[in-house]
Amino acid sequence: MRILRTVSGIRKHIAEARGKGQRVALVPTMGALHEGHLRLVDLARKKTDYVVMSIYVNPTQFGPKEDFSKYPRTLAQDKKLAEERGVDVIFHPASLYYPDDSVSVHEREQSLGRCGASRPGHFDGVATVVAKLFNIVQPDYAVFGQKDGQQLDVIERLVRDMHYRIKIIRAPIIRDLHGLALSSRNAYLSAAEYEKAVIFAQALEHCAKSNGNAAVKNLRKKLADISGLRVDYLEVAGGRLYAAVKIGKTRLIDNRKIGKAH
Ligand code: PAJ
Repeated sequence: MRILRTVSGIRKHIAEARGKGQRVALVPTMGALHEGHLRLVDLARKKTDYVVMSIYVNPTQFGPKEDFSKYPRTLAQDKKLAEERGVDVIFHPASLYYPDDSVSVHEREQSLGRCGASRPGHFDGVATVVAKLFNIVQPDYAVFGQKDGQQLDVIERLVRDMHYRIKIIRAPIIRDLHGLALSSRNAYLSAAEYEKAVIFAQALEHCAKSNGNAAVKNLRKKLADISGLRVDYLEVAGGRLYAAVKIGKTRLIDNRKIGKAH
C-alpha cells in the first residue's frame, strides 16, 4: 500500500486503477485511526476493490481556539491499520490550500444549529475540503459515519446541490465495550474523564428510548449530575437525539435514534 502526498501522484494512481476497470471508493479521515474509521473501509470494500483513504487534518474546519495543533497525528500506526484492512492507497497531502486560496463552499441550511452553532465556520471548512477531495479523487462511492450525523447531512447537500456523481454511504456508529462512540478525541480523556464519558453515552442511550422533548428533558437532568461535564447542546433532529458535551477540555458528540429499544 502506498502513501501519496501530491494531487498529481494520487490522480495517476487512480487513473491506473480506472484503466483496469475498477470503481473507486473514498474514505475521508483526519487520521488517528480507530475501529470506527476501519469499518468505513470494510463498507467501501463491499462496493469495490479499490479503496482510497485520505488522511488530512483540515485546518479550515477548526476554530481559532480549537485543537488543530494538538489533534493526534499517528501516521505510522494509521498506515499499518489501513493496510491490514485492505486500503489500496492513502492520500496524505501536506496541504490542500493555496496561500492565497480564495474559493470555498458555504452550506446554508444543514449547517445551522447544533455543531454549526457551537463551531462557526466548521461545516463550511468540512464542505470545502470534502469538495476538494471529491474533485481530486472523483470517487464512485464515499463513506462517512453517522457518528457525525450533521456532517453527513451537509455532505449529502453538497453532493446534491453541486451535482457530484458520487454515492454517499452512511455507516453506523461504532462504540466501545461500554457504549462510548469511538473518536480520535477519546485519546484526550483521563481515566476519570473516560468514566464520565461512558456515563454520558449510557444516559444518551437510555433517554433516546423516550420520545422527543421528554428525551431531551430526561437527558438534561441526568447529565446535570455529572460533575465536570458541560452540555453544549441536546437536540432532536431527523428522528435522532443529538448531544454534544465537554468533559474537561474534550468535546464529545454522539447521537441515537429516538424511540427505539436498543
Ligand atoms: P474524522 O473525525 O477522522 O472522521 C472520519 C470519518 O470517520 C467520518 O465520516 C466520521 O463520521 C467517521 N467516524 C468517526 N468515528 C466513528 C465511529 N465511532 N463510528 C462510525 N464512524 C465514525 O469527520 C472527519 O474526520 C472530517 O470532518 C472529514 C470528513 C475527514 C473532513 O475533514
